[in-house]
Amino acid sequence: MIPMIDLKKQFSEIKGEIFEALTEILESAQYILGPKALELEQKIARYHGVPEAIGVASGTDALHLALEALGIGEGDEVITTPFTFFATAEAIFYTGARPVFVDIEQDTMNIDPARIEEKITARTKAIMPVHIFGQPADMDAICGIAKKHNLLIIEDCAQSFGAEIRGKKTGSFGDAGCFSFYPSKNLGAFGDAGMALLQDRSVADEIRQLRNHGSKGAYRHEKIGFNSRLDEMQAGILLVKFKRIDEYNEKRRKRAALYNEFLSDSVTKPVERPGMKHVYHQYTLRSAKRDEMQKVLRDNDISSVVYYPIPLHLQEAVSFLGYKQGDFPVAEEAAKKVLSLPIYPELPKEAVKEIAAIINNV
Ligand SMILES: Cc1ncc(COP(=O)(O)O)c(C=O)c1O
Repeated sequence: MIPMIDLKKQFSEIKGEIFEALTEILESAQYILGPKALELEQKIARYHGVPEAIGVASGTDALHLALEALGIGEGDEVITTPFTFFATAEAIFYTGARPVFVDIEQDTMNIDPARIEEKITARTKAIMPVHIFGQPADMDAICGIAKKHNLLIIEDCAQSFGAEIRGKKTGSFGDAGCFSFYPSKNLGAFGDAGMALLQDRSVADEIRQLRNHGSKGAYRHEKIGFNSRLDEMQAGILLVKFKRIDEYNEKRRKRAALYNEFLSDSVTKPVERPGMKHVYHQYTLRSAKRDEMQKVLRDNDISSVVYYPIPLHLQEAVSFLGYKQGDFPVAEEAAKKVLSLPIYPELPKEAVKEIAAIINNV
């Protein structure tokens, strides 16, 4: 059996350090917003070259609280991609704002900057690009548009920890960069966790307040907030894995290079534009025969997943927005053709070869 990601193998390699970190936290009895959470925030802020990082309970909360703290709310519009995980849009809805979708680029499957300006209205407050599958969106173009129209940028970096554009990390381009540490992410906790990176200290303080019941401390509540604090034990686990994140990402990139080498050109492979560093949260090919490929892989005990079979504009939950089939043809075609293959730092080279051979056969 070849899984999509082998977290058991990864755990077995770092078990000693994880138990040490957890024992220290358990003995300290500081389980919420303790020194490990603070250390993780500081290290991740420094890694990205941004002044502020705030640990929260999930990637969805990071997006929601960043939007909220940046002043987005009722009546506002946020431009984003329809080809992403549902949480991107959910976070926008939580604030009372609405997502406005823009079709994706054919090659990267990220939001297409060339189509953003036609969707800007007087209500548009922000652009929320998603670095899908670990591939950076075209931040040069997106930042240019945001500047021209005075819009905020909230980057959804749930899948792109460590990805770069000319050496600058995703999450450091926008007003906010939001990360998920869901267990299967490139940097994954052993439960839910997330983090928001902020350029502005006062907005960062606002998120600190929002994540903690709207309080700056001492049981005074200046706002109605949320309970969304980064768990200390998750922070301890993430510190152990954070030390290895560059190595993990390099190993993912090596496996992606092997897929590129072994897979025939009859499938569309992920691209990596010049200057961009893709961290392959997923290795996602496209083929008209993907259902057949998935079936044969399953018959051979090999996992594969369709991320994502239904673009957000066609999801039942948002039917009230009035979008219809045909509105975003590039995203709709991607949804019909994408197939994500197993990729993780410990994936053996022979497994990549075997998977590629099965796919080439189809
Ligand atoms: C693109 C994207 N955005 C947001 C999220 C939400 O993150 P979380 O599951 O940590 O809430 C995820 C991950 O699941 C994601 O893949």
